[in-house]
Amino acid sequence: MNKNIDWLARINILNFIVYLIIFFIITFGFSLNGVGTLLVLLFSLLLIILTFKGFKKLRKYTREKFYYRWLLHDFILNNNLFSEGVEQWEEHSNGSTKIRSRKIIQSSAVFSYEDTPDEFVVLAYKMGNIYDKRMETLDTELQGLLALPIENKQVLPDVVRYIFLKNKKEIEQYVFSNTLTREFFEDTPLDIIRLSNTQQFSLKRNTNIGLYGRTGSGKTVTLQWLLYNAISKGCGCGLYPNTYLSVVDGKGADLYSLGEILQETLGEQINIGQTPHSLAKLSREFCQIMNERFELIKNSETLNADAYDLKMIPNFLFVDELASIRDSCGSSKEGKALWNEILQNLGLIARKGRQAGCHLCISTQDPNAENIPVELRNQISAVLYMGSPSADRIRMAFAMCELENVPTVTGRKGEALFYADSENMVEPEITVAPFVDLKTKQEFKQVVLNIVPKPQ
Ligand SMILES: Nc1ncnc2c1ncn2[C@@H]1O[C@H](COP(=O)(O)OP(=O)(O)OP(=O)(O)O)[C@@H](O)[C@H]1O
Ligand SMILES: [Mg+2]
Repeated sequence: MNKNIDWLARINILNFIVYLIIFFIITFGFSLNGVGTLLVLLFSLLLIILTFKGFKKLRKYTREKFYYRWLLHDFILNNNLFSEGVEQWEEHSNGSTKIRSRKIIQSSAVFSYEDTPDEFVVLAYKMGNIYDKRMETLDTELQGLLALPIENKQVLPDVVRYIFLKNKKEIEQYVFSNTLTREFFEDTPLDIIRLSNTQQFSLKRNTNIGLYGRTGSGKTVTLQWLLYNAISKGCGCGLYPNTYLSVVDGKGADLYSLGEILQETLGEQINIGQTPHSLAKLSREFCQIMNERFELIKNSETLNADAYDLKMIPNFLFVDELASIRDSCGSSKEGKALWNEILQNLGLIARKGRQAGCHLCISTQDPNAENIPVELRNQISAVLYMGSPSADRIRMAFAMCELENVPTVTGRKGEALFYADSENMVEPEITVAPFVDLKTKQEFKQVVLNIVPKPQ
C-alpha cells in the first residue's frame, strides 16, 4: 500500500499562502499614495476572486480524480488487507546509541481501477502473497463499497477484474396480448432468444433449456414464450420442410390444446403428445432427425460447422412436466422400461443436439434427481427457475455457476432466477419471463400466423 498523500490538505496550505501574498500586496498598496492605493486594492480584489474560484475548481477536480483511489485505500484498511510490522534503526548522538522504532505497512493487497462512462472496473492484483485467495472473493464487499451490482467477474492468473455497470437498465418485462407480431422477432439473430429488454441467451451456446418452479409459478407460460420463438425462427413451418417441432404436455392440459391448434395451423411438422408412449415415440423420432442432420453436416464442405453456421433452422422438443410423464409410467416392469427409453432418448438429444441445432426444453416442478436424472440435468446450461427456490434447489439447478450472491426475488408474477452459459454472466440473475396474454384459441392462431416467417 503506497502512502496515501492528502492532496486536499496540500491544496489548502497552498491556498492559504496565496491569500497571505495577497495580504502583503494590500499592505504594500496602503504605503503608496492616492491613485496607487486604489489601483493595488482593485488588483487585489480581482486576485482574491480569481484565487477563490480557481482553488474551488482545483479541490473539486482533486476530489473527483482521487475519489476512487481514496475509496480503495480505505477499503484495504477496513477489510484488513494489509499487515503491519515494526522497523528499527540505530541513532547515534553525543556518543550514545539509541534504538528507535516505528510502525510500517509490511505488505498489502493491491488494487487499481478503470473508470469509463458506462463501466467501473476494479482490478484486484494477485501478487503471490496471502491476499491472493481473498482477491477472488471480494464480491460482497466491493458491491457494498460501490453500491452497484457486479455485472461480471473475470478471474485471471494475475488479476481479478470485477466489472460494475454504472447505468444498469431496469428489467422491463415483455408483455403482449394479440399484439405479438413478426416485427418483434425481425432483428433477433437465429440463435438468440430474448427474455427481457436487457436479457437474452444464445441457443448456439445453450442447447438445452430447463424451466423449474412450483405449480402456478409460470413454467408453462415461459415454455410458450420459447414456443413462439421457435415458430418465429421457422421451426415446424411449411417454409422449412426439414424442421421438426414437438410438444409433449405431461399433464395433457393447456399446452396440449395449444399444440393441437399449432398442428392445425402449421401442419405435419408439428408433433404433439401427452403420454409416456408419445414422448418415447417423439423423442425417438427427434433422435433420428438429429442423426440425419449429422449426415448433412458431415457431408457439407465446411469444417467443424454446426447447424447455425450452415444456416439450418433449429429443431425443438418441448416437454412440459417431465415428472408427470414419469408418474404416468408407473412402477410396472413395462412402465419402468418405457421411462428408461425416454430418459435414454432425452439424454442422447441433450448430449448430441448442439451441433445439429436440436434443442431440448424441459419443464418440471422440482429438479431433483428423481424427476430429472443428474446426467440429464447437468447437460442443461440455460435455466429459468420460476418463483423463489430454496437454497438446495438453487444448488441443484445452477450447479454450473457460482452461487455467492444469488439475488432475492421479490415475488412478482413471472419472476425467475435466470442463468445461461457464456452470456457474460457469473451467477443467476433475476428476470421476469415474457407473458403473451391471450384469451381465446382464435387469438392464439392469429398470433401464430402473425409470427411465422413468410416466403419473401
Ligand atoms: N411471466 C408471467 N407474467 C405474468 N403472469 C404470469 C407469468 N407467468 C405465469 N403467469 C400467470 O400465472 C398463471 C400460472 O402460470 P403457468 O400455468 O405457466 O404455471 P405453471 O408453473 O406451469 O403451473 P403448473 O405447475 O400448475 O403447470 C398463468 O395463468 C398466468 O396468469
Ligand atoms: Mg404448467
